[in-house]
Parts: sequence; structure tokens; C-alpha cells
Amino acid sequence: MGLIELKDAVKKYDIGKETEVAALAGTSLTIEKGEMIAITGPSGSGKTTLLKIIAGIEKLSSGQYCWNGQDVETMKEKETCRLRNTDIGFISQDYSLLEEESTLFNVCLPQMIGGRHTKENRSNAMKVMDEVGLMGLYRKPAGKLSGGQKQRVAIARALNMNAQVILADEPTGALDRENTILLMELLQKINREKGLTILIVTHDPLVAEVCMKEYHLVDGKIIC
Ligand SMILES: Nc1ncnc2c1ncn2[C@@H]1O[C@H](COP(=O)(O)OP(=O)(O)O)[C@@H](O)[C@H]1O
Ligand SMILES: [Mg+2]
Repeated sequence: MGLIELKDAVKKYDIGKETEVAALAGTSLTIEKGEMIAITGPSGSGKTTLLKIIAGIEKLSSGQYCWNGQDVETMKEKETCRLRNTDIGFISQDYSLLEEESTLFNVCLPQMIGGRHTKENRSNAMKVMDEVGLMGLYRKPAGKLSGGQKQRVAIARALNMNAQVILADEPTGALDRENTILLMELLQKINREKGLTILIVTHDPLVAEVCMKEYHLVDGKIIC
């Protein structure tokens, strides 16, 4: 049994309308704990949709998604919230940070939203920020950080959540070569040392090379 299991997963948007699109068109996939996987494919092939399904942000139109052996469809709202807010950290190309707020505030955001923000959590946040190379930047507004640093804030947030999985949607898309390499080294370190399962959507062959496996999506289907 994998940590993440999709069976014949179909996701259609705008159901019933003429514009109905199958963003996922019957995808089956098993991801084991501790894997580091690249997801590649042309624009519009369903990569972001796949991550959103796994993160519990979108629901399948048909097929099955099991998280840790549990069917996500039948999960109670509280459990899907836990999936989104505790188990899975999401990193996107456009950073999704509150730019005016401090770096530390951004790292602690899931706990604030979940009403679980404590002193211990705050000190843990600083500890993981140190680990990912954000030492001394706790008070700096997130908007004043470099691209590479912003991605580290998202990674620190996932570590502070104690997430089991990191989903990264083109995390290096806005970074230069040097920062891409640094970010991949960090993700690889987290995967090896903390055993986090990592899925990275990417167009960059260099990023895919660092991963253990690569799945290629075309028209909503994994073709290899
Ligand atoms: N919220 C949405 N509403 C309607 N169609 C969408 C939505 N999100 C994505 N799509 C469509 O689903 C398909 C897959 O999109 P997406 O998962 O974003 O692909 P990728 O990340 O590989 O570029 C595309 O045809 C896209 O236009
Ligand atoms: Mg996308």
C-alpha cells in the first residue's frame, strides 16, 4: 500500500458545460513514503490538477484517491482539513506568501489558521528557518526576500507543519540556475534526512534528474 494511491482518477472542470475539460483523464499512480518524484508534461497536461487532487484542494470527478490507505472521498471535513493543513505542504512558483508580513509570520501561517499557534511552534519555526538557510531573517517582510529565499519560506512552513509530503508546483520556474541548484539540494536533503515524500512539477530537466523517478503526463494521462 502506497502513501498516495490514485486509481483511474478523472477530474473534469465546468461539468455539463460545452467547455468541459478532462484535466485528468484516468490516471493511476502509487507513491511510496520517502519517494522523490518529478512530474513533467506539456502545459495544460494536468500537472497542477494532479497536485491539487493530492493536496485535497480539488475533488475527483470519478476514480479513487487513497491517502495512507484511506479513501479521501469518504473522509470527514476535519480529516481533509488535516490533509491540507498538516500533512501536506504546498510550494508554488508564485510563492503564495503574504508579502507584507514577516518571514516568521508566513512560516507560522498554517498554525495560525488552524488555531494551533503556540510559543513552542514559534520557536520550532525559527529552528526550521535556520535549517533551510533563513537564519536571521525572521522579521524581514516576505516581500523583501529574493526568489530563492521565498521558496525556502514555503519549505520552512512545510517543515514547521511537520508535513509528510511536499508538493511543489514548478518551484524553480522563477529562479536562476544557481538558485535552482541550491533549492534542489535543499529538497534532496530534506527527502534523505527527514524522509519526506516530495513531488515536483517541473519543465526543467535538471530538476527532474535530481529525482528518483519521473512521471510524464500528456492530456491528463501518465504515459511513462
Ligand atoms: N479551475 C479550472 N477551471 C476550468 N478548467 C481548468 C481549471 N484548472 C485547469 N483547467 C484546465 O484543465 C487542464 C489542465 O490544467 P492544469 O492542471 O493547470 O495543467 P498544467 O499544470 O499541466 O499546465 C487545462 O486544459 C486547463 O485549462
Ligand atoms: Mg500547472
